Amino acid sequence: MRLVSLLLLPLFLFGQNMEQNDVDNHDHVPVSNSPFSVQDTWHGEAVYQIYPRSFRDSDGDGIGDLNGIISQLDHIKELGFTAIWFSPFFSSPQQDFGYDISDYRNISPEYGDMAICEKLISEVHRRGMKVVFDLVMNHTSEQHAWFKESSSSRTGPKADWYVWHDGKDGKGKRPPTNWKAMIGGSGWHWHDGRQQWYWASFLPFQPDLNYRNPEVRHAMLDVARFWLAKGVDGFRLDIFNSIYEDSLLRNNPGGLRIVPSEENPDGFFQKAKYTVNQDESFRFATELRAMVDSFTVPPRFLVGEVFGNTATIKKFCELEGKQGLHAVFLFQTLGTEPDARKWRHVIEGFERDFPLPLTPTYVFSNHDRKRSMSIANNDVRVMKLMVLLQMTVRGIPFTYYGEELGIPKPTLPMRTGLDPLAKLYQAIPQFMVNWTGESLNRDECRTPMLWDSTANAGFTTGTPWLPVSANYRVINAAAQWQDASSLLRFYADLIKLRNSNKVLRHGSLTISDIRCDKDVLAFYRTLGSETFLVLLNFSKREKPFIAPTATVLLSTVAAPQRATLGAWEGRVIRIQ
Ligand code: GLC
Ligand code: MG
Repeated sequence: MRLVSLLLLPLFLFGQNMEQNDVDNHDHVPVSNSPFSVQDTWHGEAVYQIYPRSFRDSDGDGIGDLNGIISQLDHIKELGFTAIWFSPFFSSPQQDFGYDISDYRNISPEYGDMAICEKLISEVHRRGMKVVFDLVMNHTSEQHAWFKESSSSRTGPKADWYVWHDGKDGKGKRPPTNWKAMIGGSGWHWHDGRQQWYWASFLPFQPDLNYRNPEVRHAMLDVARFWLAKGVDGFRLDIFNSIYEDSLLRNNPGGLRIVPSEENPDGFFQKAKYTVNQDESFRFATELRAMVDSFTVPPRFLVGEVFGNTATIKKFCELEGKQGLHAVFLFQTLGTEPDARKWRHVIEGFERDFPLPLTPTYVFSNHDRKRSMSIANNDVRVMKLMVLLQMTVRGIPFTYYGEELGIPKPTLPMRTGLDPLAKLYQAIPQFMVNWTGESLNRDECRTPMLWDSTANAGFTTGTPWLPVSANYRVINAAAQWQDASSLLRFYADLIKLRNSNKVLRHGSLTISDIRCDKDVLAFYRTLGSETFLVLLNFSKREKPFIAPTATVLLSTVAAPQRATLGAWEGRVIRIQ
């Protein structure tokens, strides 16, 4: 039986080009199978990201909070997600909405308190899901007691906890180097009290910690231990590639690039040679991993926000035979349009570069990046197709709250932006903002979750901190749970399929060699004697094909045709 179906594989041919396919385009039948092992446990997760400020408000102050999240955990559980990543809710002056932490071991009052946080952890666990916290190691808030102390004296015990230096040539008000922050402009900021400069990779109120001081390293590892001991299953690591800068304070070489990208942090006319991706940062990843691995039951997880090329990313995952981060966001997936050839290229690259025990990640949006519906041209059919790909490739999918509803990207003016980046970039004319195609005002990525058709989409009984999408009466969770054809229900069916078939979580992936149709992408997932075939039609035209005896497990369309892939249809088939 097995042999017969293998022989039939090349028969998955697309009608119009059948003659060309009989000899040249034979598929390599996928045979190789890497056994699933403990270290791969996380490879099978499907992660949901919550931006706490915008998820659900329980006390009417217009700001989402932990009790609000607890009240909606069943939504995430019903969707089938197995882990939740929470953007930070720790003590913070909220200048960067929580990515500026003033106390790592406390909860910001608008979100709750420690008891509620502990309840949140146990409520997530009770539902069989895992908890991933956001660890902002690179910098603290300028309001953190450490920075207050460090900035108050050049000789005190914490004097060396941040990256302080005298001006150029040891004097004066010229910054020590030419280094630019990740977001443009000099990353050096003058401090009147110390009469010195401090370094901030991101915004001026987020001073970088000095990891060359072992006390700092230990203090931050202790923060991580504190949460691991409370049962947190893993961390998402904020701008992890900025942890160290060059100790010799060498100037960055000039460059031609203006805007940095996820694969290349060079920009603002300089190469980021001495400011990011330093060898010490790769080494620190292995140190962090060793610590995290000392918590064995259950196994813990690290996923890094890292910007750099593939070779760099891989060094964060493994260095000189030592394991580092379990996974890194591969942000290429954020900008890849719904196009079969482009996705084929992405998947082939990830398979080549991140073989077991590594794993790729697949993410379409987050709290910094525009909502994914815009890349799907606000077409639910296209979004379903993209999600089918995301949940059936080999890798860890990350879904940003509201993505399951297809919340469209709003347009919010830069000038009224609450996001500190919007304030920073305010002078940029709107047409240039549009030209970048991104949300430079990150408020656009953070509007409230749409729960139902009541006032403020059920997010709050007060005044929401950011505007609620205008069309919430049509697009909301309650309506979509009722509608079997909704994007939300498709997510639920799809993740259920993923959760109940190990082959989709841990099987090897082989791209089909059938190239006869440029709009169709097909790949196999194989584990043991099981093989699934995923067919994705990235076009509005129907594609005829011949299917041998095979079971359609799921399709993005309601009534899949036996021998035709519908417009924008994606389909999962069991072939053996
Ligand atoms: C990361 C976060 C972003 C934050 C920045 C500084 O990129 O995702 O939201 O503003 O780091 O912490
Ligand atoms: Mg609240």
